[in-house]
Amino acid sequence: MNFTLKIWRQRHSSAEGRLVTYSVTDISPDASFLEMLDVLNADLVAKGEEPVAFDHDCREGICGSCGLVINGRAHGPNKGAATCEVRMRSFSDAEPITVEPWHAKPFPVIKDLIVDRTAFDRIMNAGGFVSVKTGQAPDANAIPVPKDAAEEAFDAAACIGCGACVAACKNGSAMLFVAAKVSHLALLPQGDAERNERVQKMIAQMDEEGFGGCSNTYACEAECPKEISVVHIARLNREFLRAALV
Ligand code: SF4
Ligand code: FES
Repeated sequence: MNFTLKIWRQRHSSAEGRLVTYSVTDISPDASFLEMLDVLNADLVAKGEEPVAFDHDCREGICGSCGLVINGRAHGPNKGAATCEVRMRSFSDAEPITVEPWHAKPFPVIKDLIVDRTAFDRIMNAGGFVSVKTGQAPDANAIPVPKDAAEEAFDAAACIGCGACVAACKNGSAMLFVAAKVSHLALLPQGDAERNERVQKMIAQMDEEGFGGCSNTYACEAECPKEISVVHIARLNREFLRAALV
C-alpha cells in the first residue's frame, strides 16, 4: 500500500509547528501504524533528514504512550484500539493521512508528535493511590468484594492514561481519566479509607492543570481505546458531592 502523509513537525514546545507532506510506499496492510512511521523514519534517516519524533513503548495497547490524532480522530479509525493497535489495512490504498499530536493546553508539544502528559502524573500524585496497609497479595483474597463492584472496578482500572479522552473533548476535559481512577479505588474496600480526600484532591489538581469541564458530548467514551464508560463520570460527580457532605 502507498500513502501520502501530512505530519505535524515542531522542533520544540515554543517553536511554530506545521504539517509537512511525506510519501511512504510498499507498506504491508498488516503493518501497524507505528511500523509505517518506522518505515518513513528509516527513509528520512537514509536521506540525512531528521526523523519524526513520536512516543511509543509496549506497542500492544497497554502502556498508553502512543497517542496520535489520525485523520482528526484520537487513536485513528478503529474503535477500542490504541494507535499502536491500528493496522494499515484500516485505510484505503493511497488514502491521504494526517497525523497530529494531542492538541490540548495541559499537554504541550515537546517535539513533533510527542506531548508532555505529566499533568496526568500530577493528578495521580494528588490522590490516585492507596496508602493504607493492604498486606500481601494473598490478603487481598481474604477481603470479600461484591462481584458487581469488582467487575466495575476492573473495567475502570483498564484506563491506560493515554489522554485520548482529553484530545477528543472539545473542552479538553480530563473527566473520564479522573473518573476511571476515582471509580476504580472508590469501588474497592482497600480504597475506602482515603475515598473523600482522594476525589477532592484529584479534582483540585485537574482544575489546577487547566483541563476543561465535561462537554457532555461523550466524545471521550467514543475515542477511549479501553472503552471506559461515561458512567464513571457520573460516579465521580457523586463521589465529589459525597465528600463535600461528610
Ligand atoms: S479514560 Fe480512556 S482515553 Fe482517557 S486516559 Fe484512560 S484509557 Fe485513555
Ligand atoms: S505503545 Fe503502548 S499503548 Fe501503544
